[in-house]
Amino acid sequence: MPPIRVASILKNACPDECFTVKGWVRTRRDSRRGFSFIELNDGSCLKNLQIIVDADVPGYADVIRRVTTGASLEVEGVIRESPGRGQRIELQATALSVIGDADPAEYPLQKKGHRFEFLREIAHLRPRTNSIGAVSRVRNAISASIHRFFQSRGFLYIHTPIITASDCEGAGEQFQVTTLDLPRLAQQTTQIDWSRDFFGRPAWLTVSGQLEAEVYATSVGDCYTFGPTFRAENSNTARHLAEFWMVEPEMPFYELQDNIDLAESFIRTIVSDALEQCPDDLDFFQQRIDSSLLDTLEQIRSSDFVRLTYTEAVDLLQNSGQEFEYPVSWGRDLQSEHERFLTETHFRQPVVLYDYPRSIKPFYMRCNDDGRTVRAMDVLVPRIGEIIGGSQREERLDVLVSRIEECGMNPEDYWWYIDLRRFGTVPHSGFGLGLERMVQLVTGMANIREVIPFPRTPGHAEF
Ligand code: 4AD
Ligand code: MG
Repeated sequence: MPPIRVASILKNACPDECFTVKGWVRTRRDSRRGFSFIELNDGSCLKNLQIIVDADVPGYADVIRRVTTGASLEVEGVIRESPGRGQRIELQATALSVIGDADPAEYPLQKKGHRFEFLREIAHLRPRTNSIGAVSRVRNAISASIHRFFQSRGFLYIHTPIITASDCEGAGEQFQVTTLDLPRLAQQTTQIDWSRDFFGRPAWLTVSGQLEAEVYATSVGDCYTFGPTFRAENSNTARHLAEFWMVEPEMPFYELQDNIDLAESFIRTIVSDALEQCPDDLDFFQQRIDSSLLDTLEQIRSSDFVRLTYTEAVDLLQNSGQEFEYPVSWGRDLQSEHERFLTETHFRQPVVLYDYPRSIKPFYMRCNDDGRTVRAMDVLVPRIGEIIGGSQREERLDVLVSRIEECGMNPEDYWWYIDLRRFGTVPHSGFGLGLERMVQLVTGMANIREVIPFPRTPGHAEF
């Protein structure tokens, strides 16, 4: 029978109730008075279940030596009120057996307080630590909250393809997907014949499900896609992954400000849900990772986001008196240092920037009448910078086609996307939230590699 989980016992169990629990040993201490304390964790919550094993438990002497950090156990026992500090109840063992040993000479998680860099090298064991376990639970709560947010508003969850023939962001940062025999081709001097590849043409892993989401938004209405996306950008930063999860809502009849309103209440709802559903894990992050975490989250939950145009932000940054590594000038993309200055130092709250220069944004964004800007919006938050990127989409056929050409792309490759503007076109908008950046915001984890189970970054694809 599956065991009762520790979270449920710690929350609900009363003295004299009997349970069987299973999990992994965090620590064992032997008292000189002939009994042992075991801290058992089964991943269901941050806290361990304290287990008392008296020497008269059958087989005590033989079994207890095998109860070492990392070993898996089955314990039957009776709940007692705990006289010790730090826990309401404990389990007085009546039977104890080791399911799987963990040799203390070899188990790498003996000591507490390993560096995160080291834990990445043992990604198969790191979810057994307090911090990565807590991240996993928060990531789960955020994912559920994302679905709830859209489901409760009548959005349809659609599944967009992972393999694609188009480059949504137009940045050329895609991983190619091929079944051609590359080593053999490398020895041939002839040009590659893509018609002989699996799809009869070049194909890539998607950088975004947006274009396909637009197809559904302009037929079934409000919808969202939520899945893995891939970017072959060679940036070794604490905020970039080569494989990350993105949630992308797309809404017909939304203009830019409607889009911003939705993005703002989306982030607020996720933060508010996490504060309510993961109090123990967030307290842990507040104590161990970032002492300003709960203040930051409360602030996001309770105050309106600041909104200003890109042009206003550039003026503000240029007149700020602040020294930046990268100079600020109109027409250049803002760097993370600029974004963080706005949201951490100047406004000290989330900031939405909109109406960016068209020269630095993808082809699909709606052009403004000024001829220089597009209806783009980025949501910036403290410690992360950009967490959401979105826009109102270009719904005018002629403008879209000339924008595709202006961006050096071939309209024929986007014929189906262009068709949406030929047949019943409507204004529409959407955005993308990077799930990992959201988990970073909620947990305070400094490096994005700690908030995804198996990070993919340049040079790293083990596990
Ligand atoms: O701003 P981006 O590139 O926007 C899009 O992909 C649009 N197609 C979204 C849309 O309108 N439907 O990416 C959206 C978000 C970023 O704000 C960031 O949070 C995250 O995706 N992101 C990354 N997260 C981790 N690693 C990377 N390399 C990321 N690139 C983008
Ligand atoms: Mg962006």
